[in-house]
Amino acid sequence: MTEFQVHKKDIKQTRIVDRPSINNLLAGQVKVKVDAFSFTANNITYWAMGDKLAYWQFFPATDNVSAEWGIIPVWGFADVVESEHQEVPAGERLFGYFPTANELIMSPAKVSSGLWFDGSAHRLDLPGGYNMYRRVAAEPNYNPAHDALRMLLFPLHITSFCIHDMLSNKNWFEAEQIIIVSASSKTSLGLAFAIQEDESAPDVVGMTSNRNADFVAQTGYYQSTITYDALSEIKANKKTVIVDMSGNGQLISQIHDKLQDNMLFSSHVGLTHWEETEKGSGYIADRSQLFFAPSHIQQRYKDWGPEVFEKKSSTFMQRAAVDSGRWLQIATVDGLLGLSEQFSAVSQGQLPAKQGLIVKL
Ligand SMILES: NC(=O)c1ccc[n+]([C@@H]2O[C@H](COP(=O)([O-])OP(=O)(O)OC[C@H]3O[C@@H](n4cnc5c(N)ncnc54)[C@H](OP(=O)(O)O)[C@@H]3O)[C@@H](O)[C@H]2O)c1
Repeated sequence: MTEFQVHKKDIKQTRIVDRPSINNLLAGQVKVKVDAFSFTANNITYWAMGDKLAYWQFFPATDNVSAEWGIIPVWGFADVVESEHQEVPAGERLFGYFPTANELIMSPAKVSSGLWFDGSAHRLDLPGGYNMYRRVAAEPNYNPAHDALRMLLFPLHITSFCIHDMLSNKNWFEAEQIIIVSASSKTSLGLAFAIQEDESAPDVVGMTSNRNADFVAQTGYYQSTITYDALSEIKANKKTVIVDMSGNGQLISQIHDKLQDNMLFSSHVGLTHWEETEKGSGYIADRSQLFFAPSHIQQRYKDWGPEVFEKKSSTFMQRAAVDSGRWLQIATVDGLLGLSEQFSAVSQGQLPAKQGLIVKL
């Protein structure tokens, strides 16, 4: 059993820990072998919010007496290799939330034909969406050729779908433009795609770094592109909604300050610029709100029912994934060692924006 661990307070410190596999499963447990997972800025946000949003609680690190090491959760596929659970046989393939490790012991609960939940005691208080595992063999159109796209885009595009749903449901707050900050992130690109598809939506402006500006413009999802060092290009006379994937406090405060009363609403979704979170004096807190996709999904499960939500979100995600084929380049690295070699580049935002990293174990 091998784990890739990160120091909870110092992202520069990582280590690979080997320990003996657990071979005596308890009744009701299964052992899965993690096959592959994606790794993007989203996973670095799990690190940054590890204590605040309990991401460290999903997969406690071993060999960790002082609790300073953590395991970042990832989205991927795993196969059941041993089972002491009557309804979950060895050989079953799962899609869901896994550790950066090659093995995991799980306790299937609420088993139905298409999915089950990990009922392990330490996960019971965590958001249900993260505890849910799809039994992919039961899916009528499961195609392993799409595994990489699914693990990369599912957690991001379901969020894009939810943000579009939230904004359109509020009639765009009557805005004349939407500014998406950290526009080259895949969650932003998915949202810009959703907005582009929607005739009721206002114009969408992509805000990004100099090095990603050409890429963002070339995707064709945004009506215009503005770089972080050219805030004077913002049309401050237009009523504006901001969707922020960056978490860059100074930048957002400057944009608020520039827009003043035309800053109608800011949705704080992400933290790609996780080292620069401190807000400045121009920040308008009372028209700003955090966005957490699992909460939105739970709300829509209640409003629409799970089936309608699944249908609407999955048809959107299929369209968005197909369109991503125009620009997305999947890069696959080998094993937890491959992840450790790329980890610093992901955490520092140094991978090309068009690239999506898959770790194959
Ligand atoms: N609230 C929710 O429920 C929810 C759900 C899903 C995702 N998210 C968040 O959405 C954000 C985007 O995730 P993603 O996986 O889509 O990102 P991604 O595709 O990996 O984004 C890469 C882009 O992020 C920026 N970036 C990344 N690291 C950086 C660094 N260290 N310094 C400066 N810029 C950096 C760069 O964009 P620019 O040059 O354009 O800034 C880079 O091109 C994450 O923070 C994620 O947690 C939130």
